Amino acid sequence: MIQNEFDYQKAFCRNIGWLTLSEQEYLRSKTVAIAGMGGVGGVHLLTLVRLGIEKFHIADMDVFEIQNFNRQAGANLTSLHQPKVDVLEKMAKEINPNITFTVFPNGINKENISEFLAGVDLYIDGLDFFVLDIRSEVFKRAYDLHIPAITAGPLGMGTAYLIFMPGQMTFAQYFCFKQSEPDDLAIRFLIGLNPTFSNRRYLVEPGMVNLQLKKGPSTIVGCQLSAGVMGAETVKILLNRGPIFAAPYYHLFDPYLYKHKIGWLPWGNRNPLQLLKYYLVKRKLKAYTQTKAHYLNPEKYTDIEKILDLARWAPSGDNSQPWRFKIVDDHHVIVNVTNEANTNRYDYAGIPTHISSGCLLETIRLAATLFNLKLSYQYLQITNGEYHIDIRFTPLTKQNTDPLAYCIMERSVDRRRYELAQLTAQAKAELAAAVGDEFTLLWFERFRDRLALSKITMLATKIRMIMPELYPIHKQAFTFTGDCTEEGIPIKATGMNRISSYFMKWALTSQLRINMMNHIGAIPSTQLELDFLPGIFCGAHFMLIEKNKSLVSKDKEYYLRVGVALQRFWLTATKLGLVVQPNLAPIMLTYYSDNNIPFTENTKLLATAQQLAVKLHKFDQGNTILLLGRIGYPKRPKQKVRSTRKSLSSLLQREDNNEAI
Ligand SMILES: Cc1cc2nc3c(=O)[nH]c(=O)nc-3n(C[C@H](O)[C@H](O)[C@H](O)COP(=O)(O)O)c2cc1C
Repeated sequence: MIQNEFDYQKAFCRNIGWLTLSEQEYLRSKTVAIAGMGGVGGVHLLTLVRLGIEKFHIADMDVFEIQNFNRQAGANLTSLHQPKVDVLEKMAKEINPNITFTVFPNGINKENISEFLAGVDLYIDGLDFFVLDIRSEVFKRAYDLHIPAITAGPLGMGTAYLIFMPGQMTFAQYFCFKQSEPDDLAIRFLIGLNPTFSNRRYLVEPGMVNLQLKKGPSTIVGCQLSAGVMGAETVKILLNRGPIFAAPYYHLFDPYLYKHKIGWLPWGNRNPLQLLKYYLVKRKLKAYTQTKAHYLNPEKYTDIEKILDLARWAPSGDNSQPWRFKIVDDHHVIVNVTNEANTNRYDYAGIPTHISSGCLLETIRLAATLFNLKLSYQYLQITNGEYHIDIRFTPLTKQNTDPLAYCIMERSVDRRRYELAQLTAQAKAELAAAVGDEFTLLWFERFRDRLALSKITMLATKIRMIMPELYPIHKQAFTFTGDCTEEGIPIKATGMNRISSYFMKWALTSQLRINMMNHIGAIPSTQLELDFLPGIFCGAHFMLIEKNKSLVSKDKEYYLRVGVALQRFWLTATKLGLVVQPNLAPIMLTYYSDNNIPFTENTKLLATAQQLAVKLHKFDQGNTILLLGRIGYPKRPKQKVRSTRKSLSSLLQREDNNEAI
């Protein structure tokens, strides 16, 4: 639109209704000062411009940088490296060319505060969270000049805001800043703004909050909400619409938590409860800072360590993590794996361990693409129970991050019931492509197939629960305390309810009790809970088979490729918003039965396994089943309980320790 076509009344006519015509004109005559044109100041300015305000004092000394793109209204490729005040002035004038600006391109300092606030009707705080000295000076001067002031800042996916009105509680009285400790101001500002500290519940990377480095995460969601609440309060203050809940009232609006709260905090941070909170929050923030480095933390690890740190999230049967890493140099890693074929009946012929290792190998490959590296590997069998995967990294000619790399930590087994909705044809096609040229998938979606496969799984559970050879494995695999465990599986992640978990804990103290459970008929309730209902309530059961049936017996390395296919399948499912549970027990029992391997001393169970194998073969269309599992759209939000992993340091084998290979 050509500048002289601009017409104030037309441009803001859609405000009329919520504002009267005369209120709109009145707003137009007001002057607002905004300090900071970054995360929240920029969007504050544009909100007030669209409310029809035409006079601004703005201050900021920064230029836009790439790290501002996630949330700052003025940050984009055109404005990169440009002064924030210039960019925002231009953006505002493109909405209303009549706006007059008094610009403070060197930011706010003690010398220019009076000029910054001269003739101002309202002060809006848009300073960076950690700019606290000067913030308190501006609020003090605004108070002395009888200027109302608002601070509305993003906190997580919500906003926390405070209003300081002339003649009422001051910013200094509310926050009680003391200069004794460097972190003191930030903690006091935080607990005053957000006395409930409620958004900590969804702070998923606590290590990103670091008061010493003056760093904290922030989102566009919080910034836009801050501007919204600031706009509403501005209308009420400037048009004298009231009531205004000024400090010591505080406001929290967090749509992520479905929460809107107006709290009252007499004496502000001098309130005894706030004193207690000060120490608690201080402790919590210190713990956040010490949170283990994430792979994105650039300071902590070398690229190879970052790759392995991410790769350790690969799945393994019973979360056994049978691998150790030896970093030879920046381009060479040896993965040393020990299978448990001789000690753990689940590890039939070492196949599940090889599948898990394939999952690991693919996870390393994906993680390497984040660092512009590709890999080649060599499989070396050392003994029947031990093998090495020798991995070499070479630079990729151009950055080509595999999107599945971003799903590595998101992927987690879900053993609960899923939605009954079937997978879309497109989802199935993507999953089929994910398993590669060597393999293909069979889908079992009909109720009667899901029912039959659930019954087979129940039978497998009965066998594995009764057979004495697996008792020590179960005893070791499950942990009964806590939501997460570095080794094995937390019982809560199996999908068992509290009563069943309690019985399981009781039963796993001795084989005798397991037998008792069997005799009193308690096993069917476990089968119902863990196999039958989840087996019915899912989108489909799937089988991974080889694409071109070959009669050549499969070598161990073949199962590494099966693992690669499994991990690509699982990560693609994660990307598509699907959840998965592998189901290896029926395959294991079929393997033992088909190969006449007496896997248990209980001869009755050998016969039951034969029946199971016959039932399962009805589904395999003459193929060897490489993997079996169920898949679907999740019925409930992602679980907090999950198996975590051993630390990278405990998985590393160094030259100088005895474990070196
Ligand atoms: C080869 C293999 C076999 C598995 N078999 C089963 C299974 O039969 N039942 C099951 O509930 N989970 C099974 N899992 C899932 C693992 O128990 C799970 O991945 C592991 O505990 C780590 O947890 P996470 O996937 O949540 O990270 C299997 C995983 C792999 C790699």
